[in-house]
Amino acid sequence: MSLIHETPPTRSRARQRVQPTGVERTFGADEVIVTKTDLRGHITYANDVFLRVSGYGECEMIGQPHSMIRHPHMPRAVFKLLWDSVQSGKEIFAYVMNLASDGSHYWVLAHVTPSFDERGGIVGYHSNRRVPTRKALETVIPLYAQLRSVEGGHARAVDAAEAGQAALEAHLETLGQTYDEFVWSLNPEDGR
Ligand SMILES: Cc1cc2nc3c(=O)[nH]c(=O)nc-3n(C[C@H](O)[C@H](O)[C@H](O)COP(=O)(O)O)c2cc1C
Repeated sequence: MSLIHETPPTRSRARQRVQPTGVERTFGADEVIVTKTDLRGHITYANDVFLRVSGYGECEMIGQPHSMIRHPHMPRAVFKLLWDSVQSGKEIFAYVMNLASDGSHYWVLAHVTPSFDERGGIVGYHSNRRVPTRKALETVIPLYAQLRSVEGGHARAVDAAEAGQAALEAHLETLGQTYDEFVWSLNPEDGR
């Protein structure tokens, strides 16, 4: 009796390393990209706008870590701030650049919040994202590039994130702002 060796299923694009192309894509000012995650940041829900803009199918997304759309040019310090905030029960607004399945990127202004059960325990996380203003990105892009270059001097991810965080805090101190205040100073109502 011969054994039939089935070819293993091809790895989904979600698991492959997508190379950034430098091409930017965007989405409508009236649209909201929504995802929910479990406590580990694995995606449990993705709306249609997210699927369209990221270029993945729902089956490729659900259950995957949110880092699957991480853009390599994003500073680690921003994700550290994000996780420190939501794990301590606080919401955060943050500018994030994401990587779509075809290597293009898109900027978002994300509002990430913990979801609580009736006893106040955190049961997951929720993110709503809107398209940021170009004006805000003119400030965010060079700042993130500076944080990335600080982080690039460290081999270990944890050291890079800490160095990036220190550089971010130093920058905010010169502005006299928290990250939250910084985000909103770049996003006035009439700034679009
Ligand atoms: C609700 C929620 C939404 C998130 N959204 C994104 C996102 O849009 N893009 C992203 O790169 N990381 C997002 N993250 C952070 C990722 O979990 C991860 O920390 C980040 O991609 C850095 O990945 P790394 O730690 O593997 O470098 C989100 C996390 C949570 C909890």
